Amino acid sequence: MDVLAGTLAHDLKNPLSVLKIGNSFLSKNVGVSVKVSERWFETFAASIQNIESIINQTLQLGKIRSAEKEVACVAMDKKIRNCIDEIKLVYPDKQMEIKLGDLFPLYTDGGIVYQVFINLIGNAVKYAKKSGEAFLHIYSEKADKGVVYYLEDNGIGIPEDELQKVFLTNERASNTAKIAGSGIGLALVKHLMERIGGTIHLSSELNKGTVVRLFFPVSSRTLA
Ligand SMILES: Nc1ncnc2c1ncn2[C@@H]1O[C@H](COP(=O)(O)OP(=O)(O)OP(=O)(O)O)[C@@H](O)[C@H]1O
Ligand SMILES: [Mg+2]
Repeated sequence: MDVLAGTLAHDLKNPLSVLKIGNSFLSKNVGVSVKVSERWFETFAASIQNIESIINQTLQLGKIRSAEKEVACVAMDKKIRNCIDEIKLVYPDKQMEIKLGDLFPLYTDGGIVYQVFINLIGNAVKYAKKSGEAFLHIYSEKADKGVVYYLEDNGIGIPEDELQKVFLTNERASNTAKIAGSGIGLALVKHLMERIGGTIHLSSELNKGTVVRLFFPVSSRTLA
């Protein structure tokens, strides 16, 4: 079987079985309390969101494998503001202060940059703490042979011994049980960064926040 079809089939099994179990339970127990049925409906909503996310991410992976890179100058301030606007539509109830610093342009594939930032900004918003003021700081610095982008959040963080595992497909950190997700986003981002010759590095402290460091190499046609 094609790898993408395999990933899709494998990942969809979990949320689908949750839907099946819940549906069967509710149809056999018509008189359950409102509280119990409400809990099931919340679970259904999370499973449906997971299914959507798995389909979207798998489609993205397919596109990356087949697409040629299109290298051009990417105005990162505009690109990042677009990503933020989109994420706000996806999570209309989440409040987050987003601070933007220097956003140096990149000479690379704009579509890849979009997918990288939409995933990372989405994660920062999704894994923000429920209480307190959530913030995300995005800025860049010029480095020796490229540009480094940082995304710093004050969210739930990732346990130190799980920092490597979260880059693997289908893997999620142990502190995210109540938050919907398929564990594909970061694997996709790593793959994309490698495709453009860059790197991604995570550092994090549980309950304090996470810093994502992205290195974008200067290509043969350097930026001004
Ligand atoms: N900013 C962050 N703060 C805290 N945890 C994070 C953050 N970004 C990623 N993680 C952890 O890394 C895991 C993997 O992230 P990834 O984006 O691959 O998957 P996901 O968000 O669970 O699902 P999806 O495939 O829908 O993006 C998450 O489940 C979460 O445990
Ligand atoms: Mg994600």
